Amino acid sequence: MNETTNSNFESDVYYPSQNTIDEAHCKDYESMYKESIRNPEAFWGKIAAEFYWSKIWDKVIDDSNPPFYKWFTGGKTNIVFNAVDRHLKTWRRNKLALIWESEDGEVRTYSYFALNREIVKFANILKSMGVERGDIVTIYMPRIPELVFAMLACAKIGAAHSVVYGGFSVEALAERIEDAESKVLVTADGGFMRGKLINLKEIADEAISRQGTIEHVVVIKRTGQEIHMENGRDYWYHDLIKLPVVNQSCETESLDSEEMLFILYTSGTTGRPKGIVHTHGGYMVYTATTLKYVFDLKDEDRYWCAADPGWITGHSYIVYGPLLNGATSFMYEGAPNYPYPNRWWKMIENYGITILYTAPTAIRGLMRFGNAWPNRHDLSSLRMLGSVGEPINPEAWKWYYNTIGQERCPIMDTWWQTETGGFMITPLPVTPLKPGSATLPFFGIEVDVVDTDGNPVQNGEEGILVVKKPWPSMLRTIYKDPERYKTQYWNRFGTMYEAGDSARKDKDGYIWVIGRLDDVIKVSGYRLGTAEIESALVSHSAVAEAAAIGLPHEVKGNTIHAYVLLKAGQTPSEQLAEALRHHVGHEIGPIAKPEKINFVEVLPKTRSGKIMRRLLKARALGLPEGDKSTLEE
Ligand code: PRX
Repeated sequence: MNETTNSNFESDVYYPSQNTIDEAHCKDYESMYKESIRNPEAFWGKIAAEFYWSKIWDKVIDDSNPPFYKWFTGGKTNIVFNAVDRHLKTWRRNKLALIWESEDGEVRTYSYFALNREIVKFANILKSMGVERGDIVTIYMPRIPELVFAMLACAKIGAAHSVVYGGFSVEALAERIEDAESKVLVTADGGFMRGKLINLKEIADEAISRQGTIEHVVVIKRTGQEIHMENGRDYWYHDLIKLPVVNQSCETESLDSEEMLFILYTSGTTGRPKGIVHTHGGYMVYTATTLKYVFDLKDEDRYWCAADPGWITGHSYIVYGPLLNGATSFMYEGAPNYPYPNRWWKMIENYGITILYTAPTAIRGLMRFGNAWPNRHDLSSLRMLGSVGEPINPEAWKWYYNTIGQERCPIMDTWWQTETGGFMITPLPVTPLKPGSATLPFFGIEVDVVDTDGNPVQNGEEGILVVKKPWPSMLRTIYKDPERYKTQYWNRFGTMYEAGDSARKDKDGYIWVIGRLDDVIKVSGYRLGTAEIESALVSHSAVAEAAAIGLPHEVKGNTIHAYVLLKAGQTPSEQLAEALRHHVGHEIGPIAKPEKINFVEVLPKTRSGKIMRRLLKARALGLPEGDKSTLEE
C-alpha cells in the first residue's frame, strides 16, 4: 500500500465535532504541546507525580550519557503498583479490568480485584520455579487472559518478560529464548485460530530442544489436545495453582525506575531480531498519558485494542496503558471474520465498545466484505477509532470513518514503533484530520523530516523521519548489544533518533509517513526482516542463496516474494516451492511464508556481495531500475 498511500497528500480535512471537543481531556493541543517542549522536565515531572512511587526521582531526564538516556532516575516504583495495586484501594476494585471473548463465544470477565488474584497466583508460581528479580521469562501463548496475567506477574516480582508472538514458530522462538537466556517458559497446550488448533506446545518442545536454557515450562490448558509433557520440566498450570504456596499473598517489588520491564524482539535490517529493552518508570508514565489523551479514555469507556498482546501494540495498549488508566478493556481471542465477517461488529454491539483501535490491514480485510455486515449491527456506542502499524490508505480511512464510525468518530492514526514504546505522531480528538496522515507529534515529542545530512527538507519533499529529543518510553538499549543500539539508531545523526521510516511534512506541519527505508517488510502490519526470511530459506537443504522482498498487496499492505538459487543437483518444481514455503512457516511462522517463490539462476548483487533487493523489487513492479553502477550480476 505504500505506493498509493500518499496519493492525495494534503487531501480533505475532517474537523472534530463540538461534542468531541467538549468531552476531550485536552481542548488545546497547541498550548499544551508548547509547554511540553519548553520545559519537558516540569511537564513530565508533573504528570509522573500523579503516579505512585515508593521513592520520588532525583532527576526527570538524565542525559549524562547519550544516547543512553534515562528517566526518573533515583525513583522507585513498579508498573504493577500503578496498573493494579493502586486501584484495589478505590472503587475501581470492583470495576471490570478485562472482558475476554474466545473464538467460540466463551466469555470471561475480571474485575481489578479478580485480576490481582490471578496475578498473585501466577507470581507465586513463577517464584516457586526459581524466577528472581532480573530474570527474563519467555511467554509464548495464544490470545488468552493468562497471557496478561503472566506478563503482570513477571513485572510484579521484578522479572522481565519476553513475549514471543503466538504466531511465531520454532526457530523464531528458539533464538528469542536463547538470546534472553530464559530458564522458564510459559506456554499453552495450544490455541485456536479460525476454529483450527494451533500446536503451540509442539512448537515450544522443538524450540527448547534447539537451545539449552529452559529448565521449567508452565503449561496452560486451552485446547485439551494431546501433548507431550516432559517429566520434571513441564508442569500444568491447573496443577500448580493447587499448591498451598500459590495462594499466599505476594508483595509487589519496589524497583528502580530504570529496571527492565520487558524485552520485545523486533526485526531490523540485518541478522537476528533485536531485543528492544523497556523499563518500568518512563514507559509507565508515557503509555498511560498517551492513551489517556489520544483516545480520551474515561472510566465509562469500554476500550478495545484488537492487536495481539504479543506485539508492542498489545503490550502498551492492551495491557499496560489501559490498566494504568483503570480502564475496562476488551480482548478477543480469534480471527476478525470468524465464523462470519460480522464478528467484530457483533461484539462491538454486544459489549457496547466505545473505542476501537486496530490496523489498516484489518480494516481493508473487513471492508472487502461490504457494508451489509457492519450495517446489521448497532455501532452507536463507538465514539473513537484508531489505526496503527502502517500508513492507512485514504480509501480504507474513509470507509472506517463513514461506515464504522458513522461520521461521528475521529480516527486516531498513531505512528509509533516497538522502539518508541508509545504513540509518537498522532492526532488528539481535537485535531483536524487528514486521511492518511498521522498528523502531529504528541506532547514532549519533537520530530522532523531530514535529508541524509540531517538538514530539514522542504515541505512536501520526501525525507528521513527523525525524533530530536529523548522521550520517557524510548527504548533504553538492545538487549546485550548496546553497540548495535548506537549504530542502528544514532550513528547517522548523532543526537537525533533515526526511526527507519521515510516521510513528508506538509505546510501545516502534518507528517505523512511513507514506509520503511530499510529491509523491513510490513505484512499485515507485522514487522519482518528480509534477513530472517532469507536465513530460514537458506536453512533448507535444497537452497544455496535467497533474497526476499515485499510487494504491495491490497489487503496485507505487502506480501513477501522470494528469489531462490538452488544448490547444484536440485531442480525447481511446484512441489519444491511449496516445501520451501512450508519450511519458512515452520521456522518463523505462517505470517512469514512467501506468497511466491521464484527460482533464479543468479541474484543481482553489488560488487561487495550485497543482494540488491531494490533492483528485484523494481523489476517485479516493472519500474525503472535506477542506479546500477554497483551491480555485478
Ligand atoms: O513503518 C512504521 C510502521 O510500523 C513501524 C513500526 O513497526 P512495529 O515496531 O512493529 O510497531 C508497530 C506498532 C506500533 C514504523 O516504523 N507504522 C506504525 N504505525 C504507523 C506506521 N506507518 C504509518 N502510519 C502509522 N500510523
